[in-house]
Amino acid sequence: MVFNNNISLGLILGSGVDLDDRLVSEKNVLLEDTTGVHKKTVYTCTLNGKNLLVFKGRKHFYEGWGYDDITANIKYAVIAGVRNLLITNAAGGLNPNFTEGDLMLITSHINFIDKLRKEPAASHYSRRLQRLFRKACSRSKVKLHEGTYGCYSGPTYETKAEIRLQKKLGLDAAGMSTVPEVYEAKNSGIAVVALSIITNLLKENTTEKTSHENVLQTAEIASLRLNKVLPAFISELN
Ligand code: HPA
Repeated sequence: MVFNNNISLGLILGSGVDLDDRLVSEKNVLLEDTTGVHKKTVYTCTLNGKNLLVFKGRKHFYEGWGYDDITANIKYAVIAGVRNLLITNAAGGLNPNFTEGDLMLITSHINFIDKLRKEPAASHYSRRLQRLFRKACSRSKVKLHEGTYGCYSGPTYETKAEIRLQKKLGLDAAGMSTVPEVYEAKNSGIAVVALSIITNLLKENTTEKTSHENVLQTAEIASLRLNKVLPAFISELN
């Protein structure tokens, strides 16, 4: 695959998270992968005059894929010459200040997946990209939380006891992705910023059950916020 254009940003879109087609032009689909639970599409497009390489969908350990499949998006990004990467995911909110649909900038994580092959890098998240993302949120008047992400292999959602434990550990959000990609990208020299879209609230005292359908629905609504921020964020990148 030859990439003639400079890619300003690689973007991984998690479950239910999408880019508004009206924001982008020159969309060119490079790959469509319908194997596994989550369909994956890779495409290039232009947003505000900047080139993006978009990964809509990813593979997960709980589908039975191995490390190379889980991090395939990153290997693709490396070939395409991506230097800045925004990773998004759908996550359950543990912090009592969060509401459904909120955005959380991941400032650190606790990794509960034991299948990672790479040494964690000293500093996972790019301070420069975090600063630009905060600025873009404030310019586009989108509220942004910050916090620690707990990464599990899934696919089950948390039990009440697990929610209690996660809160004690100081986690703000829990999900099933992102950290393997962060490790792989960091070790490949790509600057990373990562964002959780809070699709459901993890509460100890509720009879409500988290469902994948609800997660997808909320992620679609919360995507609107991400689409508000993206043009401002992109305009800050070279
Ligand atoms: N837990 C783990 N992963 C998730 C959740 C959750 O509540 N919501 C979306 N992904």
